Order: sequence, then structure tokens, then C-alpha cells
Amino acid sequence: MQLGDWIKETRTWLGKISELPGIETYVLAGEVLHRPKSWMISHPEALLTTNEISQLDDLRSRVLKGEPLPYVIGHWEFFGLDFLVTPSVLIPRPETELLVEQALKGLDQRNDTAWIADVGTGSGCIAVSLAKHHKNARIIATDRSWQALKIAAANANRHGVDSNITLIQTDLLQPFRNCFDLVCANLPYIPTAQLGGLSVSQHEPLSALDGGTDGLFWIKNLLRLSQQVIRPRGRILLEIESDQGNSAMNWINELLPFTEAVLLKDLAGKDRLISIQF
Ligand SMILES: C[S@@+](CC[C@H](N)C(=O)[O-])C[C@H]1O[C@@H](n2cnc3c(N)ncnc32)[C@H](O)[C@@H]1O
Repeated sequence: MQLGDWIKETRTWLGKISELPGIETYVLAGEVLHRPKSWMISHPEALLTTNEISQLDDLRSRVLKGEPLPYVIGHWEFFGLDFLVTPSVLIPRPETELLVEQALKGLDQRNDTAWIADVGTGSGCIAVSLAKHHKNARIIATDRSWQALKIAAANANRHGVDSNITLIQTDLLQPFRNCFDLVCANLPYIPTAQLGGLSVSQHEPLSALDGGTDGLFWIKNLLRLSQQVIRPRGRILLEIESDQGNSAMNWINELLPFTEAVLLKDLAGKDRLISIQF
């Protein structure tokens, strides 16, 4: 079988279940053939070996059965870095890059060591991206899930930042007192009642998605802890669901009236991030 024929066939099949069948087809093919997209486009006549066809068909059938592409190939890009992902961790989302951008903007002005927490680190995508881009960052990354911490450790190692990141299994930031200049958190924020209707909940860990009755359970718990963990003039960056902006801001203004909280939008123009300056 020629590469061009496999591409054409796969594009058609994926077109029935995916919004981006072309991109997904090339991602699958690139995974097996270890060739860039430009090569695959310019070599439709390349003959596939039996082994390659069997690997390609196997990956394709997993995607057709509904398994998310990042889990099928075992890695995914975030903030220009490649992260290992397994079903134990949330697949890093592009909207979370806003949190990393804002964190780095705030860190730009300082040369001393910045003590940072990444709460609910999952794959470690936030912690590793910060460590890669800010050499003075010392990061404590926490998660309740031991399985997730193992993936975060592999990613820290993969990107050569293990010495900047300490991984701890704990609830939020329970053991810490007065030690962080910056707290970053992308905690579960989907209201429990909505989870059943979402396809993400069939594949990604519920512990990474379930935000309790109003979706703000973990975020509120973290904010209650915030005064004990944050240093004077510290900052918190919280990713939120796009429809939680107003309720989260009202709650923050009541609980932390002496802080300055700002709501920021993602590239799609949706409320996505709250920055709280102490
Ligand atoms: C939405 S995922 C985010 C993962 C990663 N930070 C990202 O942005 O892709 C939330 C993560 O928080 C963890 N988590 C949930 N509740 C937690 C808690 N109370 N304390 C620490 N981690 C928690 C979950 O296990 C999951 O890995």
C-alpha cells in the first residue's frame, strides 16, 4: 500500500468522527513513519511495509473507537514542549498556555529565586514550562494522584528540569506556610452534574475534571488556604471554566478584599484566568 492511499482512506474515516481529520491523519502517520508532514505530503507514492501498515491501522482503529489522539500516541505538545501523557493525566490544553504566559510575564522582572507552586500538576506541563523558561524558578508541584506525579516526574526529567521541580503528593498546598511568590493552579472545575454529558469524562481522569457542585470546590478551598501559603506581594493565577468568571470574582472579592483580582480572557475571547495580586 502507498502512503497517499493510507492518508486518503484515513482522512475519510476520521472525517466521520473528528473536526480535524487531516491534522489527525498526519499526526498518526508521522508517529509511525517518523517523517515530517512536508515529507509525507510530497511522497504519496512511498510504499508502506507490512509492519508499518499494521501499526498505522492499529493506531487508527483506537482513534476511531473514540480514544483521544494524545493518549493513542502517548505524548502531546504544550507551550512548544512535548509532554508524555497517559490516561492518568489530563491532556494539556492550549488555553492553559495563557496561565504560563501570565506567570512568565510576572517573573520577567525578577532576578532572584522565585518560589512557585503548581497545584494539581497532572502531566507537569505548567511546572515544566515555567522551569524551562525561567531559570530562577524553584517549583513545588503537587497532586493528589500518585500516578499523575509519576508522569510529571518523567516529563521534568525529559526536559532536564528535575532539579528545579519538587513533586509532592498532597491535598492542594496543605503542608506549606508563607513560602510562595506565585501559586499557579489549573484545578478540576467542571460542575459534577455536567460531567456525565461530556465526552472528556469517558477518557480523562474524573479526579482531574470534577469541580464539585458549582465547579469551584477546589478553587475555593485553595483560596481559603491562600493567606497561609503566599508571601507578601505574592500572586495567584487560577484557570477557570469560561462561565465561572463572575461568580469566582464575587467570591474572591468577599474572601480576599485586600487583594487586586483581574479576570483575563483566552484567545477565543472567553473568561479563562483569574490573577490575584496580594
Ligand atoms: C485539570 S487537571 C490539570 C493538570 C495540569 N495542571 C494541566 O494544566 O494540564 C487537575 C489536576 O489536579 C489534581 N487534583 C485534583 N484535586 C486536587 C487536590 N485537592 N490537591 C492536589 N491536586 C488535585 C488532579 O489529580 C489533576 O491532576
